[in-house]
Amino acid sequence: MKGQITASLGLFAKLAASSVIYSGNGYGTYYYDIQHPQSCGQDLSVANTGNVECSQFLALNLNQINSNNLVAMNHSLIASNLAQYCGRQVVVSVNGVASSTPFFIGDGCERCGTGSSTGPWNPSGAPGLDFSFSALSALNGQACNQGHIDISWQVLDTTLFDFDSNAPGQPWGPVSGGSNPGNGGGDPGSCTWAGHCQGASCSSDDDCSDSLVCSSGKCSTDSGSGGSAPPATCTWAGHCLGASCSTEDDCSDSLVCTNGKCSN
Ligand SMILES: *[C@@H]1O[C@H](CO)[C@@H](O)[C@H](O)[C@H]1NC(C)=O
Repeated sequence: MKGQITASLGLFAKLAASSVIYSGNGYGTYYYDIQHPQSCGQDLSVANTGNVECSQFLALNLNQINSNNLVAMNHSLIASNLAQYCGRQVVVSVNGVASSTPFFIGDGCERCGTGSSTGPWNPSGAPGLDFSFSALSALNGQACNQGHIDISWQVLDTTLFDFDSNAPGQPWGPVSGGSNPGNGGGDPGSCTWAGHCQGASCSSDDDCSDSLVCSSGKCSTDSGSGGSAPPATCTWAGHCLGASCSTEDDCSDSLVCTNGKCSN
């Protein structure tokens, strides 16, 4: 099981070993959602069929990439050098606190590439990144109400996802774990740590996302026998019991929105 403490240690270890190739401050917004296309009173299912800028030749769309951790950045900058930015890990911070979610660059964002590089917020041009609704909302519970949140980011030279632009000739898919969503081998969108979902190779529970455990070298669901009770989680991080909500669509699984909180 991947706990908070090991998650942060892992993040710092990665930061220490990686170089920052692009960083900034600005605004996070959302434009798609693979797991919850009906979010925040909107239908994002059409956006999910949009091709991603990093898939130049195969022209894969967001549904095919099948991960809510894909992030779009300044379109002008990424277009100038797809090989440099595509598939790279992005560490996103809110109020100076780095998220351990393994975000990766996969698309260009028009709004993020125009306007002043120091802000202020302007819906038609302001610096920042564009996310899935689930990811943005897990970063800050105000994502739905405000539509944009304050973030800072660091793009690292660590590659998390192979596209035809950054890894020509390679099978496309998440770099670690070896599951290629192109051949039906995995479902990287089904857990919060792409490449560490069910079936990925592991040596200990810390290599596995969420509540998955390492069993015979593969991340597997806990058989539930003995030991400590699993943490109170739900299938949509940030939308579990007690999370803020405005409608039932903002709550995971069978939870309902009661008095602004996801409840049973
Ligand atoms: C986006 O990148 C371009 C090219 O590097 C740069 O000129 C522009 O200022 C950037 N836009 C923002 C909003 O930072």
